[in-house]
Amino acid sequence: MRLGFFGDVVGRAGRAAVAEHLPRVRAQLQLDFVIVNGENAAGGFGITPATAADLFDAGADCITLGNHSWDQSEALTYIDREPRLLRPYNYPKTLQIPGRGSQLFTTPAGQRVFVVQIHGAAFMESLDDPVQGAAMALEEAPLRQVADAIVIEMHAEATAEKYVMGHFCDGRATAVIGAHTHVPTADAQILPGGTAYMSDAGMCGDYDSVIGMKKAPIVQRAATRLPTERKSPAEGEATLCGVYVESDDRTGLAIRIEPIRVGGRLRRTMPSLDASSDASS
Ligand SMILES: [Fe+2]
Ligand SMILES: [Fe+2]
Repeated sequence: MRLGFFGDVVGRAGRAAVAEHLPRVRAQLQLDFVIVNGENAAGGFGITPATAADLFDAGADCITLGNHSWDQSEALTYIDREPRLLRPYNYPKTLQIPGRGSQLFTTPAGQRVFVVQIHGAAFMESLDDPVQGAAMALEEAPLRQVADAIVIEMHAEATAEKYVMGHFCDGRATAVIGAHTHVPTADAQILPGGTAYMSDAGMCGDYDSVIGMKKAPIVQRAATRLPTERKSPAEGEATLCGVYVESDDRTGLAIRIEPIRVGGRLRRTMPSLDASSDASS
């Protein structure tokens, strides 16, 4: 199976890059299933039905959220009627949190893809334990028995915590991909047990910014320690940023992972389907 995961879409510029590039990238890479993180899609903060529609229309099969899930209050009700939208899985079970943190999808070809979003613990709002959350999610839809592919988004600030999640799931998930830090990492690899891993897929946003937000007021605030205008998304040309994962249909494990970066300021990189070797070569 060929899977695409694209990191946090930031504001109008991010949505424009997804609309411009994702349909072609999806076709070129013959992607069977596409996940897009949309937690910053609406003005940098949260998601609305209209901004989600932009991402679905461009080719997202599943949209994930994160620590910004509820920044737009519409999302609290929208998520209950949109099964393709996921929030973090590891909210405390005693709370009445709308929506779901995992979902089993079926592609048009009949392949079953299980997507889970886990929220990190370090330097973020504290939810339930991320590793226990992943263990519970993996029991819901074990690879090969229930799911043909499993993608876990590790939505976390700390890189070490992302690696812990990668190794914990190694051999039991097709891919563990990080999001939330908005900068792509250069560590895409297949872990020893067969799980594709990348610490952060990077954002779909304008990289002439501070992680997607207009740089001037943030720099000014740092320099003066005085309040400045409210944060808002940078408006320059955005880069579509994500990762390509190919799985072995017999095992459900990964055989290839490569970064994708198209448009905007970052140097372009696209997997070539002619190459038979994996990403690490
Ligand atoms: Fe984000
Ligand atoms: Fe986030």
